[in-house]
Amino acid sequence: MKAVILVGGFGTRLRPLTLTTPKQMLPVLDRPMIERVVAGLARFGVTDAVLSLGYRPDGFITAYPDDRCAGVRLHYAVEPEPLDTAGAVRFAATDAGIDKTFLVVNGDVLTDLDVAALWDLHRSTNAEATIALTPVEDPSRYGVVPIDDRGQVTAFIEKPPRDEAPSNWINAGTYVLEPSVLDRIPAGRPVSIERETFPALVADQALFALPSESYWVDAGTPATYLQVQLDLIDGRRGPAETAIAPTAKLDADATVDHSVVLDGAVVEAGATVRDSLLMAGAHVGAGAVVEGSIVGPGSVVEAGASLRALTVTGAGARVDAAQQLSGARVPESV
Ligand code: GDD
Ligand code: MG
Repeated sequence: MKAVILVGGFGTRLRPLTLTTPKQMLPVLDRPMIERVVAGLARFGVTDAVLSLGYRPDGFITAYPDDRCAGVRLHYAVEPEPLDTAGAVRFAATDAGIDKTFLVVNGDVLTDLDVAALWDLHRSTNAEATIALTPVEDPSRYGVVPIDDRGQVTAFIEKPPRDEAPSNWINAGTYVLEPSVLDRIPAGRPVSIERETFPALVADQALFALPSESYWVDAGTPATYLQVQLDLIDGRRGPAETAIAPTAKLDADATVDHSVVLDGAVVEAGATVRDSLLMAGAHVGAGAVVEGSIVGPGSVVEAGASLRALTVTGAGARVDAAQQLSGARVPESV
């Protein structure tokens, strides 16, 4: 089974972290996000993954020099310019010579959803495409997908205003596609699968969907990127994973509670770290407070400073002593 994994976006919502590292190469605990996505697909028999690359492709290519990741063979398809989601699928699938039914996934989604069940539904209908759905509280930042009682999709509404969403079930970013879908995507210009291709398939009654209650999070925002990691250490997806890397240095007089501390990060005496992520080599100075926030790789929080309410510091960024930040980005990014 072959899968196209979309990993070419700019990761805008995760700036400044994504200024230096593409979103799916950011760590989720001990390994890059992409490895968890690929491993999840391997469980369902995916042997070949086509990475659909755009922004900062070298971050991926140098990480997997032997073209293997989580036991899966990788093919790199680097877009000459951003082609948006459908354009990217067409470019990557064509580049890899895909000519049979295949999978597509958004590379920033961490999920336990049942790909085999999705594939089975696809086989039991005349669908050209079958997509997984997941329930969310606020559908307005996703693709909203009402279906009839046979699972046929009746509309695909990408990011509607909150009060106009007809359903709380949204596009989970996992698709089974027939190669004929590729012929529907115009070549050589950006095309959105959510705004063009899926609505056209709906009009032709060729799009089906399978609702799933399995674990599902799109890790593309600071809140959800933090959440997926806290969920793993809380054991919300199987056995709890290690929160504190063995090479981290926590002072005996520091308080580190319900947080992830990656390789080589340091927390000095009297500091408090709660519900937070300290990335590799981050440094939290004496008496500083980090709550519900992300300290980027090699970033320094000087003594007595405080970071709260989803403050995010980028690679190597410095927060001056005693500075108090809430919901901030350091450096400020556009
Ligand atoms: N190669 C390539 N080229 N990849 C791209 C491009 C592009 O031009 N644009 C975006 N991507 C990749 C991103 O890196 C990401 O892995 C995936 O496509 C989806 O893009 P996001 O920017 O994360 O989209 P979203 O989260 O706002 O919305 C999408 O995902 C939701 C579920 O997580 C949509 O598919 C929604 O309908 C869906 O509900
Ligand atoms: Mg996303």
